[in-house]
Amino acid sequence: MLALSVLALVAALPQQTFRLGDIDLSAVSQGWGVAHKDVSVDGHPLTIGGTQYAHGVGTHAVSQLTLSLDGKAIQFDAWVGLDDEALQEGSVDFHVVCDGKEKWSSGVMRKGEPAKHVTVDLRGVKTLYLKVGDGGDDINYDHADWADAVVKYDGKPPKPQQTVKEKPYILTPKAPHTPRINGPVVLGARPGREFVWRIPATGDRPMAFSAEILPSTLKLDPVTGVVSGTTPNAGTYTIRFGAKNRLGEDHRDIRLTVGDRIALTPPMGWNSWNCFATAVDDAKVRLAADAFVKAGLVDHGWQYVNIDDCWSVIPHSNDPVLGGPTRNEDGTIRTNKKFPDMKSLTTYIHSMGLRAGIYSSPGPTTCGGYTSTYGHELQDAQQWANWGFDYIKYDWCSYSEILKPEGLDNLQKPYKDMQAALAQVNRDIVYSLCQYGMGDVWKWGESVNGNCWRTTGDIGDSWSSMSSIGFSQDGHEKYAGPGHWNDPDMLVVGWVGWGPQLHPTRLTPSEQYTHITLWSLLSAPLLIGCDLTKLDDFTLNLLTNDEVLAVDQDPLGQPAHRVSAKEGIEVWARPLADGTKAVGLFNRNDEATTVVFRPSEVGLPGSHLIRDLWRQKGLGSFSEVMFTIRAHGCELLKVK
Ligand code: GLA
Repeated sequence: MLALSVLALVAALPQQTFRLGDIDLSAVSQGWGVAHKDVSVDGHPLTIGGTQYAHGVGTHAVSQLTLSLDGKAIQFDAWVGLDDEALQEGSVDFHVVCDGKEKWSSGVMRKGEPAKHVTVDLRGVKTLYLKVGDGGDDINYDHADWADAVVKYDGKPPKPQQTVKEKPYILTPKAPHTPRINGPVVLGARPGREFVWRIPATGDRPMAFSAEILPSTLKLDPVTGVVSGTTPNAGTYTIRFGAKNRLGEDHRDIRLTVGDRIALTPPMGWNSWNCFATAVDDAKVRLAADAFVKAGLVDHGWQYVNIDDCWSVIPHSNDPVLGGPTRNEDGTIRTNKKFPDMKSLTTYIHSMGLRAGIYSSPGPTTCGGYTSTYGHELQDAQQWANWGFDYIKYDWCSYSEILKPEGLDNLQKPYKDMQAALAQVNRDIVYSLCQYGMGDVWKWGESVNGNCWRTTGDIGDSWSSMSSIGFSQDGHEKYAGPGHWNDPDMLVVGWVGWGPQLHPTRLTPSEQYTHITLWSLLSAPLLIGCDLTKLDDFTLNLLTNDEVLAVDQDPLGQPAHRVSAKEGIEVWARPLADGTKAVGLFNRNDEATTVVFRPSEVGLPGSHLIRDLWRQKGLGSFSEVMFTIRAHGCELLKVK
């Protein structure tokens, strides 16, 4: 009787309902931002096709979550769709996979469409995998919601599976103690301009620097290797720089081309956005400049220290630090109180032989809502020059209030206006267009004097974001060259976070090798996006391989294109100025894959000397060579 009533009680126990938002959402891997409980990825109420949902998970494509079940779960239910908050139309596709078998998929969904309901039977299932794909294009504006998502279960509640992390592995040997001059072999400048540059050289200090046939308008500090002064008349000056320490010496001929072109190799430096975003301030920028020297990044050619958004005043804000008058009576732009003295900041940066960068937007406000340049183009350009800036990143944000982002005339207008303003300023300022690739900017960025132009939306620190951006650059290579570069956005290695809270990049070590390899093959501007005071050995090693950086900085300036893509393996190649080829072999698969590479694939039939650039080691002469490449990893080779 008793046994019977216990059984009856168990049978009568109500099944339990588990809300998806209640799991530890750090287990969600996604292409941009972080997953949130009960709100969208941008923190708004979950809203699909005009309907609000109180519960669920707001995420962003490509999003993946794996839940372990005990076989006693009953059912998964959710309403899915693209969140209404996305500023422009994205496209996503939802998938529910049980024990490796797809049980439901939404098809491509777009903004404004009503949510679709998904119900999947979970009886007997051990692994539930929830994925949001990018709808077949890129991940821009793919704000995706699993609204009212619940698992009904009888046994144990679902548990998120954290993916096993790959351990950092260092590939590159330390630079020798003897002097070695690194960095680009060509420098571009306009005549009669303030000039600062530091000879990038590794090797033990103290080191004595020298320069043969240095134009008389320039001077060299023999202790630091900083060259400063005013650029000479137009012409090409081949300067023989030397670096000597107690163990030996090195020399390198560097061609200073004084004419109308700058950025003859892609700019290399740091930018505050991917780490600090709104939390940037004067002290953090100075610390970044200090770190360039302390960590030795300057010895490898890292040069620009760039402030992104959030240095000006927020209009109509009562915040004592960020608010106040946006401009002086004469119209010159004011900084907020986090940047008390821009001139002193750039002087500090220049004193180390580094260059300084700043950010604005052609609209009335920046993407972050700070004062920007609309109606003050010449005045702002002049002010940046007066402050001593050497680089301007010019975003599109809020210009849509002035002109619709449609048609080439509208898209080019603000960039032509700033081109005209910069032309009147007596300073070499790298002009970086940031309008996310609208109107195929790579086809006309050079015509507005752009030194680089973003080809995509913002990068995030995930494999899906980095790889979908990087591997979609094929075809853009023909528009880039010395002085004008495609920019697939900044680097997401090291400690990033877009705000005060930083975290180590979510890219695995292999994915980070792929990131730097691909960006170098693409001749991309290399702007480190992490907190440089937190550089670990792995990240530093990754950013200081001179043979890899030399691919990015190759003076021929011809970016790689995709040679082949088959079964998750891609081969990219570019010619280098010395007649060799740089070749990247990439494994986009989720598991290690063995690859056979033949130089003939990149137009070099027969046997050729092959050098492994990450390990800085000759492998021998081959007509065919085999590599086992880690999941999402790569090999970077130089083929003679
Ligand atoms: C845009 C840009 C980013 C960054 C932010 C600043 O999103 O693409 O790189 O500059 O604006 O608000």
